[in-house]
Amino acid sequence: MSKKILELRNVRHSYQMGQKTIDILKGVNFVLDQGEWCCIYGASGSGKTTLLNLIGGLEIPQSGKITVCGEVPAEMSGNQAAAFRASRIGFIFQSYHLLPELTVLENVTLAGTIAGQSFHAARKKAMQLLSTVGLEHRIAHRPMELSGGEQQRTAIARSLINDPALLLADEPTGNLDPDTGSEILKLFQSLRQADPSRTILMITHNLDIAALASRTADLKNGILSNR
Ligand SMILES: Nc1ncnc2c1ncn2[C@@H]1O[C@H](COP(=O)(O)OP(=O)(O)OP(=O)(O)O)[C@@H](O)[C@H]1O
Ligand SMILES: [Mg+2]
Repeated sequence: MSKKILELRNVRHSYQMGQKTIDILKGVNFVLDQGEWCCIYGASGSGKTTLLNLIGGLEIPQSGKITVCGEVPAEMSGNQAAAFRASRIGFIFQSYHLLPELTVLENVTLAGTIAGQSFHAARKKAMQLLSTVGLEHRIAHRPMELSGGEQQRTAIARSLINDPALLLADEPTGNLDPDTGSEILKLFQSLRQADPSRTILMITHNLDIAALASRTADLKNGILSNR
């Protein structure tokens, strides 16, 4: 039987702008099983990033329930939830979000030590992952000294350091030229080939990526529906 990695039940979220409440998510129901790679489509402003931030715990939903690997981070204490997310969820952002003062190797290693790995183990794993993403010759560079594609590959290595059960990616090729975008696409493909149990939820406008995914879903009018 397939294992449920992610479940959303009636998730609602709105933003308050002065007197006005803007409803963004209006009752999202969604299940993702282990090994699925789902791409989410939706117009700009439809709430895709909001949805990913809620799943990744960067924001708390106003109502509804988000279950990750059978556990509900919103019901844990702050520290417990942070530790749970750090070890179970990998996050890839459109704008990379690397720490500018740290080197490539330090950026990736830190994500491992924050989740409880020893420095030695995290550093070794970081070296392996950076080599997988083709950056072994750039480990001493700081993010400013990298191209966009290299920064995104660093962010992908960082997202994998704790072997997350769930990988969330918010337009990972959105800021890249088409050639660099297809390099990242190939990287995701090879990650999946190396480990087909990897579960990925990705926002993308890139049709080449979406064509490789096992499923697509549309976010429209605050509701997420399978295609
Ligand atoms: N902190 C906030 N306060 C108020 N409104 C917000 C806030 N964050 C997002 N919004 C609004 O919520 C809506 C959804 O934003 P979101 O970033 O989730 O969209 P998106 O689907 O990711 O769009 P894009 O494709 O452009 O990245 C937008 O209309 C945005 O203006
Ligand atoms: Mg967005």
